[in-house]
Formats: sequence, C-alpha cells, structure tokens
Amino acid sequence: MKRYFIAANWKMNKTIGETKEFLDSFLPMVKDVSGTEVVLAPPFTSLDAAFQKVKGTNVQLSAQDLFWEDKGAYTGEISVAMLLDAGCRHVIIGHSERRQHFGDNDDAVNRKIKAAKKAGLGVIFCVGESLEQREAGKTFDVIRSETEKGLEGVTDENLVVAYEPIWAIGTGKTATTEQAQEVHAFIRKILEDSYGNKAGSIRIIYGGSVTPENVDSLMVCRDVDGALVGGASLKPESFSRIVNFKKEM
Ligand code: 13P
Repeated sequence: MKRYFIAANWKMNKTIGETKEFLDSFLPMVKDVSGTEVVLAPPFTSLDAAFQKVKGTNVQLSAQDLFWEDKGAYTGEISVAMLLDAGCRHVIIGHSERRQHFGDNDDAVNRKIKAAKKAGLGVIFCVGESLEQREAGKTFDVIRSETEKGLEGVTDENLVVAYEPIWAIGTGKTATTEQAQEVHAFIRKILEDSYGNKAGSIRIIYGGSVTPENVDSLMVCRDVDGALVGGASLKPESFSRIVNFKKEM
C-alpha cells in the first residue's frame, strides 16, 4: 500500500496571524486522514506559531529552504539546527523559484540536501523542466541531470522527490496524467540506478497547479505518490479536499 505524501508550499504567503487562522480551520478537517502524510511549509516567520498548533496532530512541518553551513556570518540565512529547533521535520530544496530567482544551482542544491540529511531532516527535493526545454525535447535530459547532480553522494532514506514542471507552476496548466506518469516513471528509473530496490519506497510527488478538481486523477498514476501544492494550499477547504483525495476514480 502506498503511503502518500502531500505537502503545502505556501511560498511567500501568510503572516503569523493568518497562519494560526488557517490551522484553526484546517486541522479539524484533516484529523481523520490516514495513509497520507500531511505536511505544511509556511514561511520561516510562521514556523513557530504553526508548530504550536500542529504538535501532537497528524500534520508535520516543513521549511521552504535552508543554508548548508552550521552557523556564522551568513546574513539572512537559516541553518538546519534552527529548523529542527523550530519543529520542522522536512525541508524543500531545489524549488524552481529558488533556482530561477536566487541562484540555487545543482551544486548548492546538493550541499543543502546533504546538510539536511546529515542532521536527520527529511528532504523534499524538486526537479522540473521549463516550457522551452520541454518544447525542445529536452525534458528527460534536464530531469536526469538535475536528479543525478542533486543526489550525488546522497542516501535514499528520508527523501521525497518532487517533479514540478516549471510551465505548470502557478499557471493553471497541470501536466496531464500521462505526462506526469511518464516523467515520474523516468525519475523512478534514475533512482533505481542509484538505490536499486530501495527506489520503490522513495515517494515521487507531483507539483504544478494541483487543485481539488485534478488531484484524484493524478493520485491514481502508478508512480505518483503525492503532491506539492502551492496556490490551492492557501485555503483550508481547498487543501483539505486535496489531502482527502479520492483513492478510486
Ligand atoms: P502551484 O500549485 O501554485 O502551481 O505551485 C506549485 C509549486 O510550486 C509547489 O511547490
């Protein structure tokens, strides 16, 4: 039986007050969810307030990024120890918005993944092609390159891989179930090359305009083990419907 992994990536949204308000509505809506790990990645400033609400519940906390050094003169950065201290169990690394706007290259992504895993923080590692790369027939090359470079020297435990086609993020254009399944199966093969049989238990989740309307059909795909949700995770009703997706079509 698959154990699904569904995470909300709030990006740069919600104040502390809005975070608390969301959780007051959301937590009762998902309290009976079983067979799915439910994860919330608020901005850093809301982590502590969110932790005070989610501790002892079935909702886990994630950060949206980290810096790989332990401590020191790195103005604006957050370490793994700080995230663990704030109650995080996971961290998103390599999101395309970090790669595009903040210069996170494959080497930085790899260092961040290693730092997180060394300290026992679960990693949600993102890969995905742009529209230009897809149209040029380079999807599989990009996915192979990002996956292999990001995971160089990284072990399989505590690892979730998120396939997020950049052209589907925030655009309302979801990948079709065929497109998602095709790339997820490809990622699974890359993972098998590194981890053998253990690749079967690494969750590969889909992100890019996931909504209450399309989640059911995406979750039935063989190699889709969950979702990373942006816009549709900002409202309790919408994200709880996604978390409570229907397992049979
Ligand atoms: P949207 O769900 O808003 O398309 O965002 C996806 C995403 O980037 C999640 O990390």
